Amino acid sequence: MAQRPYIVGNWKMNGTRAMLSEARAIDRAAQRHMKVEVALAPPYTLIHAVHREVEQIGVGAQDCHPGAEGPHTGDISASMLADAGAKFVILGHSERRADHNESDELIERKADAALEAGMRVIMCCGEDARTRDSGKAEKFVLKQLRASLPRLDDAAERLTVAYEPIWAIGTGNTATPEDVGQMHTAIRGLLVELYGQEEGAEVRILYGGSVKPENARDLLSADEVGGALVGGASLTADSFMGIALAVGETPEA
Ligand code: PGA
Repeated sequence: MAQRPYIVGNWKMNGTRAMLSEARAIDRAAQRHMKVEVALAPPYTLIHAVHREVEQIGVGAQDCHPGAEGPHTGDISASMLADAGAKFVILGHSERRADHNESDELIERKADAALEAGMRVIMCCGEDARTRDSGKAEKFVLKQLRASLPRLDDAAERLTVAYEPIWAIGTGNTATPEDVGQMHTAIRGLLVELYGQEEGAEVRILYGGSVKPENARDLLSADEVGGALVGGASLTADSFMGIALAVGETPEA
């Protein structure tokens, strides 16, 4: 693997200031395990506080508005997130697609806005159980990604993709390393098609969905897996850094 494995925690709608101690513990552990690149996406309300508390890990957001500013009550723009200390934004997560009816087209505009604001983007994709069972998972994911990925000229340089099958998120079920490898290989093909051989090959593709310290090593040894996007297991430093450690200990790392 050319780049360090990238392990990103998505705290979703969890966390108050009481959890800053976990962020500090994650940061301290990350300083001791530099073979792995670690980042955290806390809720909006904690971005600035986490940014101030940590030295090593990246801090990001879980969504942004596609506009730069203006009359959008309750929304937050990418430049406001950057101002608060966020360096990346997770976009297109299946929970946002479902809870807020987000379309691929809207997600693409958000990605362009985030890149324009100087941030990195983690673009999520993934099929539901019915699509997987009908044998159309790959077709669905590639179509979703093709429509959601940013098209700005230098987009690939600041892009990460996260494959997160919906049926694996928060369920304890995970895809098999074979299925993950197959999907990631197909995603790599699309990235090369869209961004060119060199740039498309550099984009990291994370796996997400019930990643835990116990299964991380297997999942991350699948083809074309450059890291993990972790929900539930990122809420404590012990389990989150357990994942980072398991991954960092692979023989080639
Ligand atoms: P999970 O969530 O690790 O709790 O399954 C993953 C995600 O939604 O990013």
